[in-house]
Amino acid sequence: MSQEKQKVAVIGLGYVGFPLAVLAATKDYEVFGYDKDEEKLSRIEKGENIVGEEYIDELLPKVKINVARDETNLKQCKIFIIAVPTPVDEKYYPDLSFVRSASETVAKNMESGALVVVESTINPGVCEEIVKPVFEKKGWEVGKTVYISHCPERINPGDSKWNVRNIPRVAGSFDEIGLKKTVDFYESILDATVMPMKTIREAEAAKIIENSFRDVNIAFVNELAKSFDLMGIDIVNVIRGAATKPFAFMPHWPSRGVGGHCIPVDPYYLIEKAKENDFDHRFLRNARAINNSMPHYTIELLQNKLNEIEKSVKGTSIGILGVSYKANVGDLRESPALKVIEELEKLGGRLNIFDPYLPKYSNVKNLDEVLEKSEVVVLLTNHSQFLNLPLENFRDNGIRVIIDGLNCLDKEKIESLGIIYKGIGR
Ligand SMILES: NC(=O)c1ccc[n+]([C@@H]2O[C@H](COP(=O)([O-])OP(=O)(O)OC[C@H]3O[C@@H](n4cnc5c(N)ncnc54)[C@H](O)[C@@H]3O)[C@@H](O)[C@H]2O)c1
Repeated sequence: MSQEKQKVAVIGLGYVGFPLAVLAATKDYEVFGYDKDEEKLSRIEKGENIVGEEYIDELLPKVKINVARDETNLKQCKIFIIAVPTPVDEKYYPDLSFVRSASETVAKNMESGALVVVESTINPGVCEEIVKPVFEKKGWEVGKTVYISHCPERINPGDSKWNVRNIPRVAGSFDEIGLKKTVDFYESILDATVMPMKTIREAEAAKIIENSFRDVNIAFVNELAKSFDLMGIDIVNVIRGAATKPFAFMPHWPSRGVGGHCIPVDPYYLIEKAKENDFDHRFLRNARAINNSMPHYTIELLQNKLNEIEKSVKGTSIGILGVSYKANVGDLRESPALKVIEELEKLGGRLNIFDPYLPKYSNVKNLDEVLEKSEVVVLLTNHSQFLNLPLENFRDNGIRVIIDGLNCLDKEKIESLGIIYKGIGR
């Protein structure tokens, strides 16, 4: 007699929820996907890989994701995964409205005994202070009729080695049963370990410090880049040197700023939460301020180099290579390139913008057109297509200045071609 598959609902089918839904569907689960974005649901119904990752291409033909447009279709599910956005507003204040509303959807439609796992990145206390009360208001009793856990996702879009399947997890819950159910579920779908945490707050805190660690370390090298530049020291060579130490040093690299939905956002969740205890996370605030200053710093570098050739941003034809926040993906969220573009436009620059992954944001067709139309180039994303371009093409198109916002081009070679090169701290 064939056993009925356990039903899992994934609430929020983005960079985090969609890969998880696909992975669970490859295992012994019947998966229901629920999202507010109708266009996304239609694409999923057509079998599209909406996150564009290669390993998903391999899995998709083997699985079925049931699209649940009507939230009452979620009733049959025993496990609910919440993977909705946790952004900040224009004042960098955490916006937990998506987590609250997704929790309400689940609380309204679940049946007794369900496991609810929040995967969204949240500060310590959110499960207790925001998620739990939503369920209690609907009459559910945590640890008796509903089990609530946090198992933060650590996915790194565009990473060819680490993905939803093989990245280890931590999990925390309000009670032993909830923790066991959570660890059992993730162990049944992952090829990686799941570390049970003592409390749900510890699990929430673990994720927040991972991304704050990145932000602080990147801010440190961005600050060094500015300082070493004044001393005439190449920061990239310095970091390469320091990284030969086989312990207690981990290289981070300076750039035109950090982007994406996580690193420039998550530290604010901790900063704001700590304020409730009158604690000021000065270190994190400083890191945020330094990293937020980098797009403007990149423009200053361009202005300095334009001065050398007796030009200004105003009226100069500037090629912009890349808009997305990271290499080889079309993700615009919190991209520092957007700030650079906005400021250059305000200064009167004539921009030729090209990103192969974001045709909608490009105002030229291809790389050739950028080079033909521009006098100077600012590289803002290290897409492979840009790295593979023969550097002679810049010279042959009369490019006079290159600002390398990712320190990813060959400085010596560019200078040997008679082009002015400036990187971030080199
Ligand atoms: N993107 C990453 O690399 C990454 C990595 C680790 C963790 N995270 C965290 O995971 C969470 C989700 O991030 P993401 O990148 O997948 O976001 P995303 O924007 O790609 O996807 C979120 C989805 O949730 C949907 N949604 C919003 N409110 C909803 C609701 N009430 N009900 C149903 N669907 C709803 C949106 O329409 C969207 O499709 C965030 O907390 C983020 O910080 C993201």
